[in-house]
Amino acid sequence: MKFHFLYSFFITFIGFTRTLETNETVPEELKLVFVHTVWRHGDRSQEGHLNNDPVDPSKWIKGGGGYGQLTPEGMEQQFILGKMLRDRYIKTGFLHNFYDSQQIYIRSTDVNRTINSAFSNMLGMFSSCTSRPGIDYPDIPGWPRGFMPVPIHSSGPANEDCVASAFCDCKRREALLEIAHQGKEFQDYIKSEKYLNVTSQTSKLFNKTFTFDNLWKVHDAVYIQLVHFPETVSNQSWYSEEYFKDLEDLERPSQAFVSGLYNPPIVNGINVQREIVKTRGGPLINDISNRMRTKANCVKNDGKCDSYHRNLKYYAYSTHDHTVFALLVVLGLEDIVAGPEKHGEWPDYSSDILVELFHNSTDGRPYFRVNYLKNINSTFETVTHLIKGCEELSYCDFKVFESKAKEFRPDRPIHEFCQVLPGDENRVTSWFKEFLHEKVGLESSVDRKYWYLSYSFFLLFLFK
Ligand SMILES: *[C@@H]1O[C@H](CO)[C@@H](O)[C@H](O)[C@H]1NC(C)=O
Ligand SMILES: *[C@@H]1O[C@H](CO)[C@@H](O)[C@H](O)[C@H]1NC(C)=O
Ligand SMILES: *[C@@H]1O[C@H](CO)[C@@H](O)[C@H](O)[C@H]1NC(C)=O
Ligand SMILES: *[C@@H]1O[C@H](CO)[C@@H](O)[C@H](O)[C@H]1NC(C)=O
Ligand SMILES: *[C@@H]1O[C@H](CO)[C@@H](O)[C@H](O)[C@H]1NC(C)=O
Ligand SMILES: *[C@@H]1O[C@H](CO)[C@@H](O)[C@H](O)[C@H]1NC(C)=O
Ligand SMILES: *[C@@H]1O[C@H](CO)[C@@H](O)[C@H](O)[C@H]1NC(C)=O
Repeated sequence: MKFHFLYSFFITFIGFTRTLETNETVPEELKLVFVHTVWRHGDRSQEGHLNNDPVDPSKWIKGGGGYGQLTPEGMEQQFILGKMLRDRYIKTGFLHNFYDSQQIYIRSTDVNRTINSAFSNMLGMFSSCTSRPGIDYPDIPGWPRGFMPVPIHSSGPANEDCVASAFCDCKRREALLEIAHQGKEFQDYIKSEKYLNVTSQTSKLFNKTFTFDNLWKVHDAVYIQLVHFPETVSNQSWYSEEYFKDLEDLERPSQAFVSGLYNPPIVNGINVQREIVKTRGGPLINDISNRMRTKANCVKNDGKCDSYHRNLKYYAYSTHDHTVFALLVVLGLEDIVAGPEKHGEWPDYSSDILVELFHNSTDGRPYFRVNYLKNINSTFETVTHLIKGCEELSYCDFKVFESKAKEFRPDRPIHEFCQVLPGDENRVTSWFKEFLHEKVGLESSVDRKYWYLSYSFFLLFLFK
């Protein structure tokens, strides 16, 4: 893969300590061999200007100025996250106590705030007294003591990087969303009284038509202004906690739909859920799974291992709420963000997923563990046991992870796949649907459980 952008930055050590106890005892037979980490950037300025926006564009001066930039608050969050990761992986001796270019690879989307998040994170991770002047950085007057450049890689514009950004341009996904929007669940949503009330109220307030497609812009602006300009927002005649809660309540289903979460997952005979997820979390989980497989093979047979993979131990993706959520969806973990009652809520700033690979010396096989951090005020929690196939386990057979990757693997290389519109081959056996419709009299939008019921009925029919 070609990486077009290479960024460097400087690491410093600052007199900032925050000790975190890691209290996870790993079974004796397991040895940590590789870590993938996928985080969301930290706090940022709002994404764009609204008509009648209470905050003037000139007010957004933080973090380089302008919209969508990582703020100092966001830098601090990532710095703290970097410290937490340092406690987990450097203090424990898994990684060297300085930036080792052979061990670590940092990949960001090519967006200011994710690149700056990676910078800030590395600063927290490697701010250590063991950086060696003359080896890690030049030992010259004027060079800040302890500052050490670390490369942050990026693979092309975010709208073309389907591995690290789940929202990359994809015609196929657009077409699938259109089909999905014909389903009863989505139709009920956009016909609900609350949806109609809030979108029409919002459209009037901000003198622009707002629908499920762009309502996030208002939610985003209000959410962020409440952080950075709380007096200005709460002073607006239209602002009330109730109005903001309405925006949140409408955003959650909308975010679930964009992510491919539909109930039932089949609309007009197409499994829109699986097909959409293939274009969002699919490329990322396969990237992770392939690297873990290579690494697991390396551990088993060092002779067949190339030096790049022999030394590599830590791979980070600096990304967006879209991407962190997309990976959770692939693993069936979407409700760990805010609980099932807030289904569809996306991950907070500086939330983080860890996918750890272990070698089990008893059976010589690879195992994995998944941890999730809600935000920097939280602690990493092991969530492996919530993955289907890993019930009650903290460490699960790597085969389960590979089967998830396979289930959501794009049918072709993602850029080609995104050009292919869904067609008959994606139909959930159209003959079968016709059969249901004609002989059993069921509509296509029947609830999932009835769908299975009639399937059993049909099997009975066949084998009688
Ligand atoms: C750490 O683990 C031990 C043993 O499982 C447990 O008793 C203790 O409460 C844990 N401490 C924290 C802070 O979670
Ligand atoms: C970075 O920020 C500048 C200033 O806001 C903006 O013009 C530019 O488009 C941003 N670039 C990316 C890739 O986000
Ligand atoms: C919609 O607005 C009407 C009129 O303002 C109000 O009576 C009704 O309670 C609102 N419905 C919801 C679900 O918010
Ligand atoms: C609303 O926007 C339109 C242009 O889109 C403009 O002509 C009109 O004056 C605006 N109305 C108000 C009240 O700002
Ligand atoms: C809030 O509104 C009052 C009265 O309209 C005004 O005097 C005050 O300056 C406003 N405060 C802010 C922070 O905008
Ligand atoms: C390691 O492998 C052995 C043999 O298959 C198994 O009994 C044990 O549970 C494994 N350890 C973990 C933590 O899964
Ligand atoms: C973390 O806690 C601090 C102090 O309670 C609070 O100000 C901050 O908003 C919290 N951050 C997040 C991301 O929840």
